[in-house]
Amino acid sequence: PIITATCSAPVNIAVIKYWGKRDTKLILPTNDSLSVTLDQDHLRSVTTARADISFQKGDRLWLNGVEEEIGTEGRLRTCIEECRKVRKGMEAKDGSLAKISGLPLHICSENNFPTAAGLASSASGFAALVATLAALYGLKPTLNSSDLSKFARQGSGSACRSLFGGFVAWQSGTEASGDDSLAIEVAPREHWPTLQALICVVSDAKKGTPSTAGMQRTVATSPLLQHRIKDVVPARMEAMRKAIKDHDFDSFADLTMADSNNFHACALDTAPPIFYMNDVSRAIVQLVEEFNRASVAEGKGKRIAYTYDAGPNAVLYAEEKEMKTILAVIRHYFPNTDFDDTFNLLGAGANAS
Ligand code: DP6
Repeated sequence: PIITATCSAPVNIAVIKYWGKRDTKLILPTNDSLSVTLDQDHLRSVTTARADISFQKGDRLWLNGVEEEIGTEGRLRTCIEECRKVRKGMEAKDGSLAKISGLPLHICSENNFPTAAGLASSASGFAALVATLAALYGLKPTLNSSDLSKFARQGSGSACRSLFGGFVAWQSGTEASGDDSLAIEVAPREHWPTLQALICVVSDAKKGTPSTAGMQRTVATSPLLQHRIKDVVPARMEAMRKAIKDHDFDSFADLTMADSNNFHACALDTAPPIFYMNDVSRAIVQLVEEFNRASVAEGKGKRIAYTYDAGPNAVLYAEEKEMKTILAVIRHYFPNTDFDDTFNLLGAGANAS
């Protein structure tokens, strides 16, 4: 038999950040996190997988047209084998199922954005991979999206959240097996359809400390991270859930910006310190703070929230009706910066396309 499946998955941007692992092999985090899944128009990965008896050299994978070594262990291998194992079990139970779990796979994955931009390409990539293999192997009746998120998590932690659309929590879990470390839906995108994200690409250069290495250096050396894990994130997760439930942009903005700053403070508290934001990133923070201050003074409440991941690019959240003004203000104050800015609606999670 020849079986082919194609799925796509969008990028997600955390408003409560994941930073630190308690288990680096299983990718189990030191704290819960919460993110917003973007729509698929601007930032997504599309993956096609094909199982074919005539494939001679075993499993192979192409990323944006370039072949990548899958290897015998490591994150890619783990994701593939987790999916294959479930299919194998299904075939053993039900003799009428086609025996495809043993067939070699050819996998081809493309991003519709430059990987170099450091815009969470591993999150959409591993989510699309797992969604595609789940479709190929027909895993859906047996496994739901939270189950599949555990496979994507082992590819890249943040990828587990892209299995869902809208507002998504990754609960860190407590079990050593990782069985309770999975993504769950906090609210579907329809819950708050007017919330939008604006991505300001400050730099599309791929440089600095990769998040995988950076976060473990923080775990090993930062006393501030321990405070974040114990005293900061648990209360913030609760408050964020409530802000989303109530469509309370003011609280959503406060919590999002505070958590971005706390995460970057932990990066700075790492030895040696890690700097992800640059002068332009910080200038955008000041601009947003000033914009919000003026708005609050007029009795209107906060209107923009910023957040930064492991790089200098800003993601701004705001209500749809504010976006035009925000874009004009950003353009006014950064006339010489060629921001590749795109409006992003909130989107659905990984999906068959
Ligand atoms: C700052 O998911 O890329 O974007 O699990 O090692 O692959 P690995 O790390 P990754 O880290 C993302 C860190 C972050 C915050 C977040 O997305 O929650």
